[in-house]
This record gives sequence, structure tokens and C-alpha cells, in this order.
Amino acid sequence: MEPKTTMPGHAPVRQVGTVTVTDDTTGRTFKLPLLEGATGPRTIDIRKLYAESGYFTFDPGFTSTASCESAITYIDGDEGVLLHRGYPIQDLAEHCDYLEVCYLLLNGELPDAQQKADFERTITYHTMVHEQLIRFYSGFRRDAHPMAVMCGVAGALSAFYHDSTDFTNPVHRMITSHRLIAKIPTMAAMAYKYSVGQPFMYPRNDLGYAENFLYMTFATPFEPYKVNPTLAKALDKILILHADHEQNASTSTVRLAGSSHANPFACIASGITALWGPAHGGANEAVLKMLEEIGSADRIPEFVKRAKDKNDPFRLMGFGHRVYKNYDPRAKIMRELCYEVLGELGIKDEPLLDIAMKLEKIALEDEYFVEKKLYPNVDFYSGIILKAMGFPTSMFTVLFALARTVGWISQWKEMIEDPQQKIGRPRQLYTGATPRSVVPLAQR
Ligand code: CMC
Repeated sequence: MEPKTTMPGHAPVRQVGTVTVTDDTTGRTFKLPLLEGATGPRTIDIRKLYAESGYFTFDPGFTSTASCESAITYIDGDEGVLLHRGYPIQDLAEHCDYLEVCYLLLNGELPDAQQKADFERTITYHTMVHEQLIRFYSGFRRDAHPMAVMCGVAGALSAFYHDSTDFTNPVHRMITSHRLIAKIPTMAAMAYKYSVGQPFMYPRNDLGYAENFLYMTFATPFEPYKVNPTLAKALDKILILHADHEQNASTSTVRLAGSSHANPFACIASGITALWGPAHGGANEAVLKMLEEIGSADRIPEFVKRAKDKNDPFRLMGFGHRVYKNYDPRAKIMRELCYEVLGELGIKDEPLLDIAMKLEKIALEDEYFVEKKLYPNVDFYSGIILKAMGFPTSMFTVLFALARTVGWISQWKEMIEDPQQKIGRPRQLYTGATPRSVVPLAQR
């Protein structure tokens, strides 16, 4: 059959057949187109279902619903596969740096040497934030969570840069993307500096992306600071591992906000907000707190027991994933990186790593976790690395937001460029009161 839709640079979506749905109560049947993309599960096209039948579909949490067509990232959760533009995450982490991955996510292809150099230059020259933006920080209490600061300051970006927010203009869309990728590390480092009461450090154009972020975070104006190249490389890899993850909660939030043609900087602020929760990006902070609370290996069984108890809200943080029903490929790389970083820093005995390793082993052998396919996810080991690098736990999710900004803006751009794009407007299964009359106050 003819392709149903083809976006530039996307594999065609083909209709491969139909699916017939029967309403057993009335005997009415509906034929729904069955679609196939480049790979992944076949997808039933329900776009015309309501118009033609008067029925909605019900899928809280979007467990079975594809909300968009996308050519950026592919996950096979059963096999533990993660591809960006077709490239396995392992290859990208091994052979590319973060800015190459950013270029890939944004443009669809890896850059050649000239494109890479041009992209690096562009990003580097956008790293400074408007001087006026700096004042927003002092409006926050010093003990504000840095993610609260990031939500506010990223939202404030929408009050600047009016020269690049015409979403219909492809040049504007690209400039906005570059600005976000470039400025988010500066803003993140400033959130840290503000929390510890140290002066902000301006970005340095002679440093690489991760290197510059470490410099802005840990350097002070009163003495020279040399960034450890091994740590900069490790951080760069951590950024790659977090760069995009298809239609997760924060990305879907960015797309939904953007679907109303809202200011793109404000859309990214909405993504930061969604990421903050412990079920999503906030898990890296929650993992470290959990490991600290466990405190020693002999207490692991007690926490595993709690995680399995239906009457206890406690969950093993860093375990489980909506899509992965196998070991998260990012977690594998993160675990190796953890050893590298601890080795580089000469940390021989890290009690938290010891607890994490033992917890992982026990959980992976436990019937409950095996049966529910709960494996360590990307957040399980990242906190231990970030702690070793000197980041406080409250900064962990900020680092996730920094890395994910490219994913958010690439997905926003793809959505805006999609000719099928419509404002996101889910339906509902209404369970409230049916029509009734207001009883005047005096008679209630
Ligand atoms: N510990 C104990 N039980 C768990 C866990 C866990 N970490 N995760 C899921 N379960 C159980 C859950 O209780 C449920 O059991 P039952 O079927 O008996 O009701 C079953 O496994 C399925 O869980 P779910 O909550 O229905 O699955 P979900 O796809 O809605 O949630 C999740 C996925 C990631 C929110 C969840 O696994 C979780 O809360 N994990 C801990 C938080 C975490 O590590 N989040 C980071 C995710 S990866 C990075 C990112 O996305 O940002």
C-alpha cells in the first residue's frame, strides 16, 4: 500500500493492513488502519476513530499510545536497545563526544570535521547568558533546590532573545536550539554557585563543553583551576547517555507545551519541571539518598523486602523502567564509568558503590524483580559518579536536565516541522457528576 505519511528525512509510514474492532454490545465494527514505521511495533491508527464511531480510547500513562511520529530515537525495551538516529548508544558513547551527539540529534546525521568545528564554534559563542538574567538568581533563597532555580531561570529565558522565537522560521528554530544547548551549562553552574554562595564564573571559550561546565562549577576567581581531563571525558559520556530518550514524560511535556506554539524556552522550562520528579530524572538524587539510608550491606534485605511490600510506598530507586524490560543499556555503560571515575580519583573503597553492587545482585536474583523485569536504569550508578566528582546530590537532576536539553529541543523542532502537527489535546473518560441544577446558597 502507499505510504500514509512521509516527513522529510523520515522512513515512510506504510499502511500494512487494517484491524477490525467490534463493539460486542451493538455488533458495530470499525476498521482501523494498521501502520508500520521503520522498525518497532505495528501501530493502530485511531485518528479518525472518534469522528467515525463516536468512541474514545482509554490509555492513562500512554502505555500503548504513540503520540507522534519521530525519527530521532528508537528503544527496544525487551532487547535493551537504544538508538539515536540509528546509532547504538554504546557506539556513540565510545566514538563520539557530546556535541557530536547534539549535532546528530538536531540534524539527523553525524557531523563531518568541518561541520563539527562550525557547530562547536557556534555553541561556544552562545554560552554567555544575558547579564540581566543573572539577576534572577538573587531572587531565590540560597537553600532553594537547584532544580527549582532551573525551572525559574529557564522560564525566564523566554523573556530574552525575542529575535529567535518565530517558530515558523527554520533559522530561528536552529538559533534557539543552539542558544539552549550553549546556555544551559552556564545556567546550571550558576545554580550551583548560587547555592554555595560563590561568585558566578563566566564561560571560557577555550574549553570543551563538559570541561567548561566543570570549570564554571568548580573554579573560583581567586586561584587557577585545571579541569581533570579524565573527569571531563567521563562527564561528557554521562551527558551522551542522557541526551535523549524518545517520548518520556519530560519530552512529551515539551512537545505538548510546544504544540500550542508556546515560546520554546518556556517549553524547555516545562520539560525541566517534569524531569524533576523522582519517578523520572529526580531518581538519580533519590538513588543516592536511598543508598545512604541503607547505609550498610546487611540492611539491603530489609529494603528489598519493603520494595516488594504492596502496602509500603517505598520503591528501589534506580530500578525499573516503563520501556526497558531488560538491563538499561545506559546503566551498563554507567557502571563501567563509575569504576573509571573512582579509579581516576583514587577512591578505593566507596561504601555506596559496594552497597549498590550488592543491592543490584540481590535484586537481580530476587523472584519479584525477575518476574516484573525490574532492572537497574540509567540513574542507578550515575549518582555515585557525580558525587565522586564533587557534585552535591541536589545537582544530579540538574545535570540530567543539562544533558537532556538537546533531546527536548530536537523533539520540539521535529514536532514543529511535522506537517501533521496539531495542538495536543487528550480526551478523557469522564466519571464526575452528570448534569444537575445549582441549589442556591441559602437552601444548601
Ligand atoms: N521497586 C519496586 N517495585 C517496582 C519498582 C521499583 N523500583 N518499579 C516498578 N515496580 C513494580 C510496581 O510496584 C508494579 O508492581 P505491580 O504490577 O505488582 O503493581 C510493577 O513493578 C510495574 O510498575 P509500574 O509502576 O506500573 O511501572 P511504570 O512503567 O508505570 O513505572 C517507573 C516505571 C520507572 C516509574 C518505576 O519502575 C519506578 O518508579 N522506578 C523507580 C524510580 C526510577 O528509578 N525512575 C527512573 C526511571 S529511568 C530514568 C528516567 O526515566 O528519567
